[in-house]
Amino acid sequence: MKTLQTAIQHVRENNDFIINLLKEFAAIPSISTLSEHEADIQTCAEWVVQRLEKSGFENIQILPTAKHPSVYADYLHAPGKPTVLLYGHFDVQPVDPIDEWESDPFAPEQRGDNLYARGASDMKGQVLASLMALSALHHEGGGIPLNVKVLIEGEEEIGSPNLGTLMEEHKELLACDVALNPDAGIISATQPSVTYGLRGLAYFELWVHGAKSDLHSGLYGGAVHNPAQVLADLIAGMHDSEGRITLPGYYDKVRTLPDEEREALAKLPLSQAEFMRNAANPPALFGEQGYSFIEQTGARPTLEINGLYSGFIGEGAKTVLPAKAMAKISMRLVPYQDPDLVQQQLTDYLNANAPDTVTWELKPIGHGAPAVLVDRHTKPVQAISAALEETFGVEPVFKLEGGSIPVVGLMQEILGVQSVITGFGLPDDGIHGPNEKVHLPTFFKGIETLMHFFVNMAQ
Ligand code: BES
Ligand code: MN
Repeated sequence: MKTLQTAIQHVRENNDFIINLLKEFAAIPSISTLSEHEADIQTCAEWVVQRLEKSGFENIQILPTAKHPSVYADYLHAPGKPTVLLYGHFDVQPVDPIDEWESDPFAPEQRGDNLYARGASDMKGQVLASLMALSALHHEGGGIPLNVKVLIEGEEEIGSPNLGTLMEEHKELLACDVALNPDAGIISATQPSVTYGLRGLAYFELWVHGAKSDLHSGLYGGAVHNPAQVLADLIAGMHDSEGRITLPGYYDKVRTLPDEEREALAKLPLSQAEFMRNAANPPALFGEQGYSFIEQTGARPTLEINGLYSGFIGEGAKTVLPAKAMAKISMRLVPYQDPDLVQQQLTDYLNANAPDTVTWELKPIGHGAPAVLVDRHTKPVQAISAALEETFGVEPVFKLEGGSIPVVGLMQEILGVQSVITGFGLPDDGIHGPNEKVHLPTFFKGIETLMHFFVNMAQ
């Protein structure tokens, strides 16, 4: 008789086949932010379609959007059982700095227990793990015990700008009881965790304009305000000496951590030394005073400079007074900050502090995403907790993640659906950086955990 155990056994006996599929998937350079990769996005969507067909899914379709498409499929043969909407994204981040990669980011290479490739962890590995779990249950485990819908998008890494519209257009198609979002990670290969919160995001370009064109810094320097200097002054004023953000009203709505939650976060098996290692060993940590590194990255909002541009940055010297300067600025938001309100607060700060020797422009990049908090006392969260314990043999802990997944808020807002946030990435996977990898033993535990999850949810 086919059972969950035979499905688990089948996966264990077919590790090489599954690794080869992951290599195929990760070899497609589906970088959503670079327009020269548009055809690769399409190829990748078609790869997902073909994988869904092989996994036994029905009603498979590519749903176009104004930019990159999503893939939908379902398998609805368990009347009376819950419907789970599995979310994933098949797009990836750019690969730069390319010189720091030890192997080609799109020629997946296995070294020891790890498979190195862009997207191996974030999140092609997690998408494939989910599909392999369902496929094994379907073909070798006596059937998928509940109803499953699948939505795998191509725009997550650019902030899911068209996913809200797509969800509005396909509300009926996407109707479900709960969403499963495996785009996060766990604490370590031996300590599973459940993510109960994510930070949100608001992203901008701040342009400062001075003279109509670049000037000789000797002829004009001293009398014409340098936009790079103005930008630097403005940025410098956005934090005080204690690491707090100075935008007017910025902390007004920020959720205060209850004492019990601070105590629980303090007890998490996370060490500062390991955090430093995973952060590529900065000389020392820096952050808002009065908060631990766990709180600073999970429960407190930030304002980061993601990029700076001005003047001459080529080899050697050029005595130029630049005409313009630009900073990419993003804010990680916590509950209950509003992405539109922080845009207003940044605007207010600039109105109050920018000198009249320049003009400036604040351009929002993509849609803002609010932070997310998950109710831990629901059946789906219990189903994933139990599944993690069944697979890892260790009770999971609850943790807050500092990253953002825009779809979680969109699903709450548009479909009225909560998400279970899980995933099997490890803190040292190097997501978004060079030499991204997935830890294969953890990836396979992920497949088993998800099989348990679906079975638990059907009970
Ligand atoms: N999977 C990540 C987010 C993540 C990473 C959550 C680790 C929890 C643990 C996701 O793909 C991501 O990187 N999101 C972007 C979103 C942005 C472009 C809107 C992010 O957080 O920068
Ligand atoms: Mn990512």
